[in-house]
Amino acid sequence: MTGCTYYENESIKIPQPEVPNATTTLEAVYVTTVPNKLTSKYWKTADYLPITAQNQIIGKVPVEDGLFNMSGTFGGLSDFNQGEIPDISLKAAYTSDSLYILISWKDSKYNASQANWFYNGPEDPKKPGSTTGWTSQQNDDKLILSFGMGSGKSDVWKWSLALSEPLGYAIDMIDNGTGAVADAGNKMYMRNALGDNRGGPKYDWNGIQQELYRKPSGFTILDPAFYMLNKDDFAGDVVKGEVYFQKECAGCHGITGDGEGTTNPVGIRLNKTGQFNRWTRQALDAFASDPGKHEGAVHYPTIEAEREDLFARLRGFSGVPGYYLENPTGSNSDIHAVSNVQLGKIDSDNTKGYTVLLIRALNTGSGDDIVFSSTSKPVYDFTINFMDNDNLNLIGANNKQLTLKPKQ
Ligand code: HEC
Repeated sequence: MTGCTYYENESIKIPQPEVPNATTTLEAVYVTTVPNKLTSKYWKTADYLPITAQNQIIGKVPVEDGLFNMSGTFGGLSDFNQGEIPDISLKAAYTSDSLYILISWKDSKYNASQANWFYNGPEDPKKPGSTTGWTSQQNDDKLILSFGMGSGKSDVWKWSLALSEPLGYAIDMIDNGTGAVADAGNKMYMRNALGDNRGGPKYDWNGIQQELYRKPSGFTILDPAFYMLNKDDFAGDVVKGEVYFQKECAGCHGITGDGEGTTNPVGIRLNKTGQFNRWTRQALDAFASDPGKHEGAVHYPTIEAEREDLFARLRGFSGVPGYYLENPTGSNSDIHAVSNVQLGKIDSDNTKGYTVLLIRALNTGSGDDIVFSSTSKPVYDFTINFMDNDNLNLIGANNKQLTLKPKQ
């Protein structure tokens, strides 16, 4: 009997699936198939730059009068994503004419307001001041990429859930060392105000479905709870509407619309953010005046002007959008954005986190913009920052590099 026979393990080369690896710079690979969708094949296997965020600017509240509850990243990392690690990562690619940067991060709540109009809105725990009457409240989630252009200048790309995402762009800005300002051309967002931050809204949603076509992401519908594209003049006397509400509705629905009625609490809230921005006047009339549907029907006004006043007051519970949207022009329309946000209905939970793809021409031909070239200057310095329900405080990382890898 012979002993055991040993077979040497031959080293067999099994093809390994390509898996994304972490890299130390953001490596943009040259591709010939345009990766302009979140589902484009390239992104599945592309390497990624992980970002460990640090507090960058914290502890700020808006200086301007009338702005409240806008500082959701006040405490930095301890406030951002409710203190959970945001898990930031970046991927990149370039074609013969464009640069593609894919950014993903965790933020479990959508914030899609920007200085929205609340009437007798909540007070701000971080900023003293009266919130009686109209004030501008709440903020949105933002991403800011800033590329150094030399001599203290930077090209700043700001993606904002409330202001730029709905039309499919990032805001293109230039910072000459004194703060970022929007590039030349018409902006995609305009302030919806009659005066200052206490002046009240100029417009509200007119009840027509807000459809639009965006490049390259295609057709979308915008939720009127947070976005205003189709609009009319804001109608009704909110002061009279408030008097009517307190007299006829507060008994069941509560003084602040919280459902804690003063005489007959029904527990039905009328002060959920965005709630009445989604109702049309006709739909509210049909529901609220129908005794078969609404216990408070006899209290609903029969006089048209009183209905208008009451509707103004109800929209003041919801936060009428602080900005309305328009198609940008010129250098403001250079950076296209594609994201995983479903704009038709924005509710509070963002279980998957954000994924945003930014697309820009390598060379826009505009002096406001950085030029990318794999041959003349393959390495670019950048910083990346994030805001959660904020426009002042931010977390992020400095001293990062984007490398345009040579064409193979
Ligand atoms: C007698 C109590 C009562 C009064 C007064 C009352 N409501 Fe209601 N309301 C209710 C109840 C109860 C509901 C839930 C639907 C139902 O069962 O009637 C409701 C529901 C509503 C809703 C639907 C909320 C939603 O998002 O589904 C609206 C809007 C509303 N009320 C508006 C008003 C307005 C405006 C007034 C004042 C003109 C008013 N209600 C006065 C009891 C009242």
